[in-house]
Amino acid sequence: MNSNNPYNPTLVALDTPDLGHALKLAKSLADKVGGMKLGMEFFNANGPQGVKQIVDLGMPVFIDLKLSDIPNTVAAGIRALLPLEPFMLNIHILGGRQMMQAAVAAINEAETLGYTRPMLIGVTIVTSMEDADMQELGMNRTASEQVIHLAKLAQDCGLDGVVCSSHEIADIKAACGAEFKTIVPGIRPKGVAAHDQKRVMTPAEAINQGADYLVIGRAITQAEKPETMANDIWQSVRYADL
Ligand code: C5P
Repeated sequence: MNSNNPYNPTLVALDTPDLGHALKLAKSLADKVGGMKLGMEFFNANGPQGVKQIVDLGMPVFIDLKLSDIPNTVAAGIRALLPLEPFMLNIHILGGRQMMQAAVAAINEAETLGYTRPMLIGVTIVTSMEDADMQELGMNRTASEQVIHLAKLAQDCGLDGVVCSSHEIADIKAACGAEFKTIVPGIRPKGVAAHDQKRVMTPAEAINQGADYLVIGRAITQAEKPETMANDIWQSVRYADL
């Protein structure tokens, strides 16, 4: 990225079960963010029809369902999401090589079905987990080592990038190359509460580390003036010293 970059990297997490509230937020933020992220809270409450209403506003939509199951079921789950025309979907890397390859094959069917191929992103280790959680699960690497290991495996299986913490971006880019995308939650502008996120960075810091997309929820959606906050974030990354 450089300061002439025309794309806005912020994907705002519309974490609400309330379709009306999500639509209102999405409309008011449309020209201040790069896209919308819809996760399980929104999806479980509003289903594909709710997603379609957000997609129909014309913004790129990342459907964040973190799919994980046997290969055939994940591939079928992805095929069922393609008509919603998301620009990004994700799966758990811990579902393994065969599941990831089946997911890639399903996503590659998009163009023959008349849709733009969404990016397929892998979830490494969720950022709420620490080294002690890894040990308890019988995984002997530290969380950071495991994240790099999983990112390389995901790339080998044909995924387009990973969700990771801002502190892992540089190592992932070093291991997988600059083109391999990093989608980064845990972002807080200066002065905004960290909530339950453990290790946070500002938007500009994460972009300087090489983040391709910033997933930002409460810092925007619970701000007194969400539009102003989203605009301030956009200006801060647009003019970051990259
Ligand atoms: O409100 P906040 O900015 O913390 O929201 C972050 C969003 O990113 C939430 O939708 C959460 O589900 C998602 N996320 C995360 N950490 C991960 C993966 C996804 O916070 N490792």
